[in-house]
Amino acid sequence: MSMGRSGALKANSFPMATTLDLPVSEFAADVWAGLTAANQKKLPPKYFYDDLGSKLFEAITLLPEYELSRADERLLARCAGSVASRLRYPCVVAELGSGSGKKTNHILGAIHIPGLKYYPIDVSSEALSACSRELGKLATVEVINGDYFQGLECLDRRRPDQSQLLLLFLGSTIGNLERSEQHDFLCEVRGRLRPGDLFLVGADLVKDVDRMLAAYDDPTNVTAAFNLNLLARMNRELQADFDLRCFVHEAVWNRVERRIEMHLISREDQDARVGALDLTVHFRAGESIWTESSHKFTMEELKALAEDSGFKVLDSWSDSEWPFAETLWQA
Ligand code: AVJ
Repeated sequence: MSMGRSGALKANSFPMATTLDLPVSEFAADVWAGLTAANQKKLPPKYFYDDLGSKLFEAITLLPEYELSRADERLLARCAGSVASRLRYPCVVAELGSGSGKKTNHILGAIHIPGLKYYPIDVSSEALSACSRELGKLATVEVINGDYFQGLECLDRRRPDQSQLLLLFLGSTIGNLERSEQHDFLCEVRGRLRPGDLFLVGADLVKDVDRMLAAYDDPTNVTAAFNLNLLARMNRELQADFDLRCFVHEAVWNRVERRIEMHLISREDQDARVGALDLTVHFRAGESIWTESSHKFTMEELKALAEDSGFKVLDSWSDSEWPFAETLWQA
């Protein structure tokens, strides 16, 4: 999901903007905020998904330890017919964070409407091209390159007036939001939908801690590479000089918040330069950059989330081999 598009920042929100008199990318601004934080250094997980990161994530979905993807796919195969049967003509399908859209074929394949339009929304243009190739046989694919809300706005302008929308938010991407942000995010999505629109949300459920940890710390180190690529991306795009060998990938279970957290731990006392920001960042030995939270849910929690943000739960499906749920909401 490349946030590579640069946007001029509001005056005063970022010191370099005035000094250099150049538009500063959103990525640069978020790196500045995240790495100069007084306590816990932190970077938003959406920056994992540049072209390389999107490929590494696809590799993760093939890992035996990351059973989440298979559970998601099994469930989509199972629920596709039932979801499709609730759509009335004319309708369109859109997806938040589609990636390469592999698992979406089940849903699109079940909707037998000639000329069906599918709008994948993603920040990685590479992933979107793969998505067009992959799903072009099943629908007319109109890619939207941007983040979720840019994407939803664009979708609102493009979808036909009387159409019913099926919006997909799969693979437990919702888990990346802080629990305090989930409600607001869903209300914002709800605000951009029209009554009758459907929202299919996939969410990973709480399960055995060892299985969850293994899914985020695989022995082939693909997840470590995915995590470390964030440092590499700053090196590539922001002229930073992070030494990737001086950081270690770590996944921990936070029992109170019920989430897996990924961190990059500094092996030693060190400094890193971020050239584009004219910034030197100091790391103490053992200090971490918190790069992702993947919250895990219960069915009751999902239902409450839906209802508290203006949706009605129409149906839900869950996988018992790897507890995961697909829930169909209506605006
Ligand atoms: C795509 C955000 C759902 O949180 O499980 C996979 C990303 N991170 N392995 C997740 C991810 C580490 C994934 N999501």
